[in-house]
Amino acid sequence: MPREPIYAVIDIGTSKVVSIATRLGPEGELKPLGVGSTPSLGVRQGIIDDFGEVRDAVRDSLKECLRYVGRNPVGDFFAVVNGDHLVGENSLEVMGDGEELVTVTEQHLRSLVSSASGVLQQQLDSRSEQVLHIIPMRFRLDGVAGVRNPTGLHTNELQLEAHIVRGMSVPLGNTVRALQSCKLRVEGLVAHPLASGEGVLTADEREMGVVVIDVGAGTIKIAAYREGTPFFSSVLPMGGNQLTRDMAIALRIPYQMAEDLKIQHGHVLPDELAPRDEVVMPATQVQPKRIVRRQEFCEPLYLRSLQMLKLINEELSKAGMESSPPGGVVLTGGGARMPGFAEMTARGLRTQVRVGVPLWYAGLPESLRQPEYAAALGVLQWAVKHRHQPDQGRIRGEGERNWSPGALLRRPFARAGARQSGRD
Ligand SMILES: Nc1ncnc2c1ncn2[C@@H]1O[C@H](COP(=O)(O)OP(=O)(O)O)[C@@H](O)[C@H]1O
Ligand SMILES: [Mg+2]
Repeated sequence: MPREPIYAVIDIGTSKVVSIATRLGPEGELKPLGVGSTPSLGVRQGIIDDFGEVRDAVRDSLKECLRYVGRNPVGDFFAVVNGDHLVGENSLEVMGDGEELVTVTEQHLRSLVSSASGVLQQQLDSRSEQVLHIIPMRFRLDGVAGVRNPTGLHTNELQLEAHIVRGMSVPLGNTVRALQSCKLRVEGLVAHPLASGEGVLTADEREMGVVVIDVGAGTIKIAAYREGTPFFSSVLPMGGNQLTRDMAIALRIPYQMAEDLKIQHGHVLPDELAPRDEVVMPATQVQPKRIVRRQEFCEPLYLRSLQMLKLINEELSKAGMESSPPGGVVLTGGGARMPGFAEMTARGLRTQVRVGVPLWYAGLPESLRQPEYAAALGVLQWAVKHRHQPDQGRIRGEGERNWSPGALLRRPFARAGARQSGRD
């Protein structure tokens, strides 16, 4: 019997490095084989800033993950990439000369995506930027927009509306180097906002229109979906670490003590707490043990969360989302566990909010159904879904220059097809 393929993912987060190995069953189902999660020290706001620390954390995480899998049976890894250098934009690629009637085939669609990728890569300076994803949203047939699947339809000119994610080559390359230094082959990179969306959003929500907000330790990842596909994605350089830092400063306590107390007693809506609630602050090198009113203790959390929501709101305005999406907001990432944050988000963004844990599937251990595993499990789903589409999140070569959105070229069907066969 042929061996079932293994899919593995690694998420180098600001607070933890998670690795998960799974087998892909005959029905397309994932069967987890091992999980490793170790603290991450060498990452700041989603970007590696201490290579040695990251390499060690990746090594430890893998050791834990592969403990039960045997000796190195896992070949290729998919990885989550993060940082506010990731840019999501929508663009248009055109195929056909507008004169010759053609019946659109699957091959045309593949060629269109592939040629869009080729054009973008040529226009980018690979030393500074790389294209990570080209996700088809809709097609236009002779200018008529909104076609979901043009296969079998006639047109003179076919246009692809796509959501494109690009990022800076140096941080992306450093992630790959860190993984390679642990003898991992990197099969693909997936941008964190889309990985989180993949991990926690249902197909119905994506169809209806929904926003996923992943609050991690150092970054907030936002992705907006409608009619089944993402049309906006972005990363803000702030997260749960800032809440901790604010508390450490306000209460004059060490950072790690602030983190522990935040998780034990934190709440972002102090007005909802009983006025008599108290928090015992252990003695530090500079202060004796003391007791603080919990409302006072939580005040910095309220102020910082309010500021985060304001910035999230500004991002959503950039996405053209003036009214709340029909499917509401799904909050995920470790920061989504913060008591009161979902309620505050619902009030601030005037929409319904749920806390998203990774979507359930048979065999998924309960321990992984936590918001902080959204991205890692999302990438596994992504890898399986895109296993036949070589343009999504592949590692790129060198020698490309800058591109500007909208500067995509018109190209006839034949040439786009030729480009495709050349690449294969
Ligand atoms: N119960 C909790 N209450 C409040 N914040 C929490 C809780 N659990 C985790 N967090 C916060 O979530 C953040 C880590 O989220 P995570 O998604 O794991 O981040 P990353 O992917 O960046 O490593 C940290 O800032 C941590 O303090
Ligand atoms: Mg994360």
